[in-house]
Amino acid sequence: MKSETTTIVRPARNLRGSVQLPGDKSISHRYAMLAGIAEGPSRLENYSTGADCASTLGCVRALGVHWERKEGNVVEVQGRGLSLAAPGSALDCGNSGSTMRMLSGIDAGQKFVSEMGGDESLSRRPMERVITPLSAMGAVIASQAGKPPLRITGAALRAIDYKMPVASAQVKSCLLFAGLFAEGETRIEEPLRTRDHGEVALRAFGAQVERRGNAASIRGGQRLRGIEARIPGDLSSAAFFLSAAALFPGSQLTIPTLLMNPTRARLLDILMQMGLRISVTQLEEVHGEMVGSLQVEGSGLKGATIAGADAAALIDEIPVLAAIAPYTVQGIEVRDARELRVKESDRIAAMATNLRRMGAEVEEREDGLKIPGGQTLHGAELDSFGDHRIAMAFAVAALRAQGETLIRGAESAAISYPEFFQALEAVTER
Ligand code: S3P
Repeated sequence: MKSETTTIVRPARNLRGSVQLPGDKSISHRYAMLAGIAEGPSRLENYSTGADCASTLGCVRALGVHWERKEGNVVEVQGRGLSLAAPGSALDCGNSGSTMRMLSGIDAGQKFVSEMGGDESLSRRPMERVITPLSAMGAVIASQAGKPPLRITGAALRAIDYKMPVASAQVKSCLLFAGLFAEGETRIEEPLRTRDHGEVALRAFGAQVERRGNAASIRGGQRLRGIEARIPGDLSSAAFFLSAAALFPGSQLTIPTLLMNPTRARLLDILMQMGLRISVTQLEEVHGEMVGSLQVEGSGLKGATIAGADAAALIDEIPVLAAIAPYTVQGIEVRDARELRVKESDRIAAMATNLRRMGAEVEEREDGLKIPGGQTLHGAELDSFGDHRIAMAFAVAALRAQGETLIRGAESAAISYPEFFQALEAVTER
C-alpha cells in the first residue's frame, strides 16, 4: 500500500503573486497518444507533471513508442505511425480513466490483444461507455461486468454513427481515435457539448475532423504527422487558485499562459458572476487551443446554481466550487451532476462528508448538493478519499476556516498536480 501523507492547511489573509500552472492534463494525454501514432518526431513542452499523464506515457512506451523526457517538462516522442507493437504485459493505467478510455480507442484498431488495468479506484469505474461503441466497430472487449481490467482484441474496425448516451469527452476522443483506424466515416454525437481537445488535437496532428452542431466526424485511414507544441497551463488546476482568490477581497493573482479553450472556460464566467474580477491579456491561439494570461482580483462572493450543460462543462471544477460555497452569500446549488459519483471517488459523497466535518450544513442529493451560504467553518480532520481534486478543493476551503485543517491522503494531489501544496503556499499571505 502507498504511504499516506497528511498535510496541514492554516487559515489565510489573502492570495497574492503569480502562479505558473503545469501543462493541461486533458491536452497532455491526447498529445502523448497522438504523437505515438503520428509519423515523425513530436516535441511536447510543458507536458503535465501529473501522475496520470505519466501513466499515459508508460502505456504508450509499452506499445512500442520511444520517448524521452528532457529538462523542463519537455517530452520528445518518436511517432511510429498507426501500427503499434504488442505489449509484453498488461498496460498499467494507474488512477487514470482518461488513459484507459482514450487509449482503448487506439488499441481497438491494432492487430494484437492488449490488456489494460489500473488501481483500486480505476477498477471501480464504468467502462461500458467505451466497450459498447468499440464493440459495434468490431473490437472484442472482455471486462469485469463493464469495469476494468479490459482485454481488447483489436480488429479491422468499421465506422459507426453513434449517439453517446452520456456526455463524456473521454468517450468522444476514444471513438474519434478509433475512427482513424476504421473504414469509412465515424460520426459521434454528444448529448451536450463537452471539451473538444480530441477534435482540436487531431487537427493539430494533421487529421481532418468535421464538426456540425453536437456531432464530430472523422474519416478513417488518415495519417498523422508529429508536432512541436507548448501545452497551455491547466485550467482545472488553476480553478483552485481562482477559487481561493475569490475567498478574499484583498487577493491579487496573475496566471500566465493559461488554457482558455471556450469548452473549458465556463468556470471563469461563473466566478465572474459570483464577483471575482478577471481580466485576460495576451490571448493567442496555439495549435487550435486558446491561451491567455489572467489577472485576478478578489471581491465579494455571491452564490451560483450549476445545472444542465453547466454541470458537464464544470465537471472537474465542482469540487472546489462546493468547497467555497459555504463562504458565499447565497450558497451554491449543484444539479444534474450524477457523473460526479463515478469519478476518482464518489465526489458528491466526499464533498458532503468533508464539508460537514468542517461544520457546514449541506444537503446531499443523488445528482448534486445544495450548500447554503453565509456559513462559518472550522478546521477539521478531512480525507482526500484518494481523490486529487478532493484533496486540493479542501485545501482551499481550509484557507477561510477557523483553525487548522488536516488533510489525510494529501499525496493524491500528485495525480494531476504534484507541486500544488507548495504552489498554494507560495501565494498565500497570512
Ligand atoms: C476529461 C473529461 C472528463 C473529466 C476528466 C478529463 C478529458 O471526464 O472529468 O477529468 O480529458 O476528456 P468525462 O469525459 O468522463 O466526463
